[in-house]
Amino acid sequence: MIVHVVGNRPQFIKLAPLYHELKKRNYEQCIIHSGQHYDTNMSEVFFRELNIPQPDLNLKAGSGSHAEITSNVMLGLEKELDKLRPGLVIIYGDTDTTLAGALTASKLNIPMAHVEGGVRTYHKENPEECNRIVADHLSDILFCSDKVSMEDAGKEGMKDKAFLTGDIMYDTFMSMNTENKKVSEEIILMTWHRQENTESRARMLSIIEFIKKLDGKIVCPMHPRTQKCLKSFGLWDELKSIGNLQIIEPVGYMEMISLMNSARLIVTDSGGVSKESSFAGAKCIFMIDLDIWDDLVKDNWILKLNPEDSKSVEAALTFAKEAVRVDECKRPKFYGDGHAARKIADLLEEHRFI
Ligand code: UD1
Ligand code: UDP
Repeated sequence: MIVHVVGNRPQFIKLAPLYHELKKRNYEQCIIHSGQHYDTNMSEVFFRELNIPQPDLNLKAGSGSHAEITSNVMLGLEKELDKLRPGLVIIYGDTDTTLAGALTASKLNIPMAHVEGGVRTYHKENPEECNRIVADHLSDILFCSDKVSMEDAGKEGMKDKAFLTGDIMYDTFMSMNTENKKVSEEIILMTWHRQENTESRARMLSIIEFIKKLDGKIVCPMHPRTQKCLKSFGLWDELKSIGNLQIIEPVGYMEMISLMNSARLIVTDSGGVSKESSFAGAKCIFMIDLDIWDDLVKDNWILKLNPEDSKSVEAALTFAKEAVRVDECKRPKFYGDGHAARKIADLLEEHRFI
């Protein structure tokens, strides 16, 4: 049996193509949901839209500090994995659910595969970086989205277990973007949720000041964490008063595709959305000073913004003014061909993990 451990919005999106590919090959699978994300629009909607069966188990770990989430997931997962004793555990991305999955499966000596392995920003203060380091080193096989992740895995002595498959989010994007849906007008799409951008009032204020300087309609499907932090810092009304900004609830993946396809620019701190910007043809301002998706940064597709630095803000505003939608044939292609799931399943068979 293969157990998928997931629990966050981006993990449901990464799970879908691999689940369907393994199902096609008749493998017995079990989905364990950690419960880290639990709102309908952060969890259930993705299972429905991406046609993934309801999780076999939900550990209901819920929210809390990093230690609380990680340990709650571990406690629930240990019991279940010990009962199931699967032949393989698959973990995804870089969240606390990924970390808990890695530690638990590893202590139970269950073989483990990491989808989206090898990603590094070389900033240990970034919570996701710690999770990736542990997940990669404990996993038996890594599936890398791009050449940069492969090289970075190699630098840490993991060359022999790392394989370039292309990005599994590209599979999901390609399979769901069949009708090339758009909303009726061109927009700037914004998402905002990372710890670096929500824990300090000054940082949140600097982002609000940046948004105020952007021209054109901005649509922001807001992560619950961001809304909560804005309210607790007394900044909610200030943000709401920006005339050209429309704040909406988090959207399902279909609506997200429409928004991305309608954007001439994406402003985000999301690892996933910043990469998807290149799939959808909208250049991206990435609001954390972290080295992600090196190739897209070098290609001038992603511009990194430090909203607290006036020079960086100036450069981002020029970038924003000049950004126009980019035709399919001119979009950078660093993340494979949309068949990562097939390659992952082939590799798992070839290396006798399944
Ligand atoms: C987590 C991941 C982050 C990833 C993101 C994807 C970690 C350390 N962080 O961040 O890497 O980019 O998921 O979206 O694992 N909340 C709700 N409803 C929900 C989920 C969360 O209200 O369904 C609120 C709670 O107040 C919670 C806060 O959001 O405390 C933060 O949630 P949490 O899961 O800790 O981190 P994310 O910011 O979602
Ligand atoms: N996403 C979505 N609805 C939203 C915001 C994001 O479907 O309202 C999708 C987005 O297209 C991407 C994934 O969720 O596929 C990214 O998740 P998130 O930004 O929460 O996490 P990260 O990638 O930063 O870990």
